[in-house]
This record gives sequence, C-alpha cells and structure tokens, in this order.
Amino acid sequence: MADLSRRGFLSAVGLAGGGAALTACSWASSGPRASTAAAATGLVSPYGAHQAGIVTPQQHSLAFAAFDLTAASQADLVSLLSTWSFAIGRMTAGEAVADDEGDPGSPPRDTGEAMGLSAGNLTVTVGFGPSLFDGRFGLASRRPAALADLPRFPRDALQEPRSGGDLCVQACADDPQVAFHAMRNLRRLAEGTAVLRWTQQGFGQTSSTSEAQATPRNLMGFMDGTNNLKSEQATEVDRHVWVGAETDQPWMRGGSYLVARRIQMLLESWDRDRLSDQEAVIGRRKDTGAPLTGHREHDPVDLEATGADGEPVLPLTAHVRLANPASNGGIKMLRRGYSFTDGIRPDTGQLDAGLFFIAFQKDPRSQFVPLQRNLGAHDALNEYIRHTGTAVFACPPGIARGESLGAALFA
Ligand code: HEM
Repeated sequence: MADLSRRGFLSAVGLAGGGAALTACSWASSGPRASTAAAATGLVSPYGAHQAGIVTPQQHSLAFAAFDLTAASQADLVSLLSTWSFAIGRMTAGEAVADDEGDPGSPPRDTGEAMGLSAGNLTVTVGFGPSLFDGRFGLASRRPAALADLPRFPRDALQEPRSGGDLCVQACADDPQVAFHAMRNLRRLAEGTAVLRWTQQGFGQTSSTSEAQATPRNLMGFMDGTNNLKSEQATEVDRHVWVGAETDQPWMRGGSYLVARRIQMLLESWDRDRLSDQEAVIGRRKDTGAPLTGHREHDPVDLEATGADGEPVLPLTAHVRLANPASNGGIKMLRRGYSFTDGIRPDTGQLDAGLFFIAFQKDPRSQFVPLQRNLGAHDALNEYIRHTGTAVFACPPGIARGESLGAALFA
C-alpha cells in the first residue's frame, strides 16, 4: 500500500491525475488552516478501528457525493484512495488540503472557502459501491456478498441520475461550508481518476446518534431519532452496525454498509393533513415526540396497547409500529440522515424537499432490505413520500496511521 508521507501524497496526486495545477506544484509544510484557536476545536480523528462519521455524534450538515471511476487500473484506484486519505487527515485536522505558496501564476491548491473556519467536527466517510467490483479493477473476487444493488421496493420512483456509484464520500460537519469544502477538494483531487455521478447537500440532521444529543425534527415537523441506535450502546452497535467475523470478505471487518435513499416528502399534501392524522401516520405525538401509547418521548412504543373500543392504540400502518424491531424480527440500524431541499419539482411546481436517509448496518440483506419491503408495502407514510434515489456502499474499516483507506482490500 502506498505510504502516506508527503512524498507518497505527491506521487499519488501525480498518478491520480490530480489536476494539472495540483501535480505541477510543490507542497509546502503542513500548518493549521486558521491560526486562530478555533481551528484547534471541533476535531474528530479520522484514524482508528472504524471510519469516523458513523458513530460520531451526528453533525448538522452533510455534503455527500457519489463518483464513477474513469481510471483504467487498480493502481489508479489505490493512488486515489491514498491521496484522499492524506487529504482527509489534513482537512479533519483543520488544515488546508495543501498549503499554498501564493504563486499568482497557479491556481491555489486549496479552494479556500474554509480558511479561518473551525474544523467543525468534520468527518469524511468513504464507501465502495457494488459496481467497483465488476471486474474493471481486478476486484471481482473481493466483493462481499452483502454488497449488492438494492432490489426495487414497492412504490419506488427511482431516478437513475440520483442512484448508485463506484465510490461515495460522506462529509459531515457542523458548518455546511466546511462539509462542502471537504467534498469539493476530494473531487478536485479525483480529477482524471473519477467523475461526480450525483451529489446531495443535507442540513438539520434527522437523527441523533448519541445519548448526549437532543432529538432533532425532520421536515414533517416530527422528532426523529428517538429510538435510533446510539453510539453509547456499544454492544448493540457491535451487533447491528460493525461487520464482524461473519463476513465472507475479511477486508470488511470493522467496516459497515451505508444505505442511502433520497426520499422526497410531498410536503404540500402533508401540511394540509390534520394533526390527528399526521400523528396516526407516524405513531407519535407531534409536540412531545411521545408514542401514541405513552406520555413522554422515551416511553416505550407499546404494540399491544388497545383503546376502550378494543382497537390498537397504535394504528396497524403507523410508521413506528412497522419500523419497530419487534415487528421485524429484531432489525435495528444506525440512522444518520439529513433533511434536504433542492428547489422546485418540475412536474408539480412543489418543493423538492425531504429526507436524505442514510443508515449504517452490518448487512443490508438482513436489515435495510426486509425493513424497507415491509415499509414500502404497508407504511401510512407512503401517501406522503417518494423514494427517488438509492445507493449502497461498503465502508471499509478505519484508516490506520501511515496506511490508506481500504488498505486491506488491496493487500
Ligand atoms: C421520509 C421518510 C421517513 C420519515 C419521515 C421517518 C420518520 C420517522 C420518525 C418520526 C420516527 C420516530 C422517531 C424515532 O424513533 O426515530 C421514525 C422511526 C423509525 N424509522 Fe423512520 N422515517 C422515514 C423513513 C424510514 C425508512 C426508509 C426506514 C428504514 C427502512 C426507517 C426506519 C425507522 C426505524 C427503524 C425507526 C425506529 C422505530 C422504533 O424502533 O420505534 N424510517 N421514523
């Protein structure tokens, strides 16, 4: 595996194409992006057993990108991952992707928009799509069985240009400009090796992933993330999120599978619905977030409770009933989605907004797929949502210092 010294980074940039301006330049020594104290705060290490950006307490903003490789060889791919690993190390430390000597005759090496900003808890999580293993890069025998394109689900309204990809980058930060900067600079470093397939900006997280975080609200106005897995629940996270010894591909141990679904909300219809119906659709109170069977947000969802009329208190089609682990043989996953708004839908003139659903799990075949089959067929929410994008990526384990992302895949 390419070493990640500055020299290694330079040669990796050269191999990857890297953009003429980047390859032609010499690189000055590292230094913090901002000399203010702010740069030293909000740092999340990208190194460790698992990639950052999965159980990291969820940040406020997302810049997500899916790429298609244009490179011809495995060496190009390895070189890109080496370049990205080095760049991720710098940007998550609050540094520019590369320092500039201010040469007026060359494009600046860092795009500059994060200069003076705190690192904002930036994390960058990289994943490999099923198509990366199609034979172009000699990796066909290394594809985990769990990494397969998701099947079509009932009511899917998928758009090809918003789906799939050979690679993904999930950049999250508490400042949207920092997240965008990371994604933009990784794209720039990929010039000549990979092209953007689709991107998604996200704001106002729709889940909490730590017990220390308050539950945020989604664009339907409901608290979202109450019954999510939390990073403090180590045993549950091990059981449902991290790939373990059960995998057929040892290089994925310590990794996780990212499922992304772009879910449009038909907000104009939703906003005309009466409160009691909105609450019956979700199965929780809009103000407190309490389940219809309880009084406080964290009261358990009681699937058996019946009213005076003998009918279930929680409607049979309520989202939280159908998504509850007890309705699905114990399925859990770590939800880490964001709200999005992308202007106006050309077909209706209504808002193109909703939930960019992201979930991490040990195996989509036994987690996301059966759960979404159930939801797609029966969920009362279906009247108000449309799934318009889909993707699945294998996120390899964390970056070891001195090594590169996915090193074990090429070992
Ligand atoms: C726009 C679409 C969606 C909206 C608005 C939505 C909203 C919500 C809300 C408000 C809750 C209750 C709070 C909580 O416990 O987190 C919830 C719970 C949940 N949702 Fe969704 N959700 C959507 C799509 C999905 C999808 C696609 C899945 C997975 C296939 C999913 C899986 C879950 C799970 C597992 C729970 C926790 C259920 C429990 O254990 O009580 N949701 N969702």
